[in-house]
Amino acid sequence: MPGSPRTSVSAEHFDKVYRSKPDPWGTLHKPYEQEKFADTAALLPAGRFRSALEIGCGVGALTRLLAPHCDQLLATDCSAAAVEQARQHCADLPHLTFGTLRVPGELDAKSLPAHLADPLDLIVMSEVGYYLSGPDLDVTAARIAALLRPGGHVLLAHWVHDEPGTTPATEAAAEIVTGHGVHKVFRDRADLRPIEGRTSHRHGNSYRLDLFQRVT
Ligand SMILES: C[S@@+](CC[C@H](N)C(=O)[O-])C[C@H]1O[C@@H](n2cnc3c(N)ncnc32)[C@H](O)[C@@H]1O
Repeated sequence: MPGSPRTSVSAEHFDKVYRSKPDPWGTLHKPYEQEKFADTAALLPAGRFRSALEIGCGVGALTRLLAPHCDQLLATDCSAAAVEQARQHCADLPHLTFGTLRVPGELDAKSLPAHLADPLDLIVMSEVGYYLSGPDLDVTAARIAALLRPGGHVLLAHWVHDEPGTTPATEAAAEIVTGHGVHKVFRDRADLRPIEGRTSHRHGNSYRLDLFQRVT
């Protein structure tokens, strides 16, 4: 992916960030974040998911909106400090479980708790992909697809550069560093079928949402 970091950003980096500022991206109070999370959860297809995994849950802001759609939801992050906050933020939701998990290395069936049915019905990844190197992003996408049951869903949400009302000069320009490049890695996979996707603009920011289904 053009513009992705040469090596994936470390868990230690994120731990340091969360310990110096508990909600570094303002996900619990910024209107942009709240509206984006509502938009993200609204893209989920109707019905309930038996077993779901959230990758890079941060402090659990989106997690709370995913929770009503899931029988079991495991919310994970590479940062133990973030996971601890997410656990507290969702303490009233007993069907949620939390754990540290770093992608792609720990993203496999044996790292998932026994109570979580394998293969999974849903995997959600919001604002994580561009912290991964190109090769790590490729492996992450492959492992996500492998963990899903046929017909299971992947929901992605990532910030993009697009200015409202403008079109990037070239496709490559649109992909640099941003969610467009992350989502393209998933779009290019033969075992994932894009179902729905859109770019939205709010508060001077833009983000891309994409829903995929694992092909049978
Ligand atoms: C920008 S925050 C996004 C948090 C939340 N998902 C959201 O949409 O607001 C990125 C999160 O991804 C986590 N993260 C980054 N790289 C990761 C990796 N390789 N494995 C798991 N989590 C990772 C970070 O610790 C951080 O909590």
